[in-house]
Amino acid sequence: MGARRGPASRGRSFVPERVLAPFGRRRSEVVANEVSGGYRIVSSVDPSGPVPAAGQFYMLTCERGWGGGGERPFLPRAFSVADAVAGPEGVRLSFLLEDVGPGTHELARLGRGDGLLLTGPLGSPFSMPRELNRDAAGAILVGGGIGLAPLALWRRTLAERGLPERSLLGFRDRAHSGGMELFRCSEVRLASEDGHAGHRGYVTDLLNVMLEGDDARSSVVYACGPPPMLEAVRALCAEREVEAELAMESPMACGYGACFGCAMPLRDGGYMRLCVDGPVVRASAVETALVAGAGHR
Ligand SMILES: Cc1cc2nc3c(=O)[nH]c(=O)nc-3n(C[C@H](O)[C@H](O)[C@H](O)COP(=O)(O)OP(=O)(O)OC[C@H]3O[C@@H](n4cnc5c(N)ncnc54)[C@H](O)[C@@H]3O)c2cc1C
Ligand code: FES
Repeated sequence: MGARRGPASRGRSFVPERVLAPFGRRRSEVVANEVSGGYRIVSSVDPSGPVPAAGQFYMLTCERGWGGGGERPFLPRAFSVADAVAGPEGVRLSFLLEDVGPGTHELARLGRGDGLLLTGPLGSPFSMPRELNRDAAGAILVGGGIGLAPLALWRRTLAERGLPERSLLGFRDRAHSGGMELFRCSEVRLASEDGHAGHRGYVTDLLNVMLEGDDARSSVVYACGPPPMLEAVRALCAEREVEAELAMESPMACGYGACFGCAMPLRDGGYMRLCVDGPVVRASAVETALVAGAGHR
């Protein structure tokens, strides 16, 4: 374990502890690959890595079929850890993924016993509500599409510590939804743009209503999803002076600070590297959550 201060944490009196990755890439063994609505949940056992914190991510590569014969993908791809359970054989890690390109296509084809190469856990995790707002009584989690992945582990972490949490999850349509089994709780409200589940409309409509409640200022909002959703969450929270953390995405080539491919501007000037100073950033640290090239709609 170790702590590190990055530009996105400027102004924080508390710097969240990040779990440090062992040096280099290691092999984990796939133990399950299941369909979950329009997504897949791939689980593997990491025999020697630490238990990650919610909000951290791994750079993943399949042991076979990755970049062979001059074909894409060449580079590893970044994935948030959606669940992590320590057991006698190692840490069982689960990733929620949507098949959108060559990397996710290969990962979606993994079977039991296949090798999943991983580097991580990387990046900074979510902060506890009281670390962001001394008066916080609980948390509101807002997930959009595949962005619910890091929130699933965060919800469980908060519940295990006895902290009240409510989850708002939004999906575009049935084909772009899934991962609900990772949210084993009753306090989940749904929204879908096509009306197939819950409120017809955006998940931010639900957040807007929730923030109108008396206790809004005593909640901290945690969000992950497509950039327009994150931007709507950032703007709503700024307007109502509610503390928020955003788990953001940008194209990542290395995942550990070497390539500067993930640089994004800070509100007060300068840049951060999202892979080491994020991917979880304090909403007030950024001018906008609209990041060019962040994969998912
Ligand atoms: C910190 C972090 C955490 C993440 N967590 C998850 C997660 O939990 N689950 C998950 O599914 N994904 C996650 N992602 C996103 C995932 O890493 C990317 O979507 C990844 O690039 C997918 O790799 P790919 O090879 O399948 O697709 P890529 O080829 O990299 O394409 C990704 C997206 O970009 C689009 N695209 C590709 N090329 C172009 C082009 N020339 N012009 C326009 N659009 C293009 C594709 O249509 C697709 O939507 C995360 C990313 C980050 C940075
Ligand atoms: S992905 Fe290489 S510096 Fe962030």
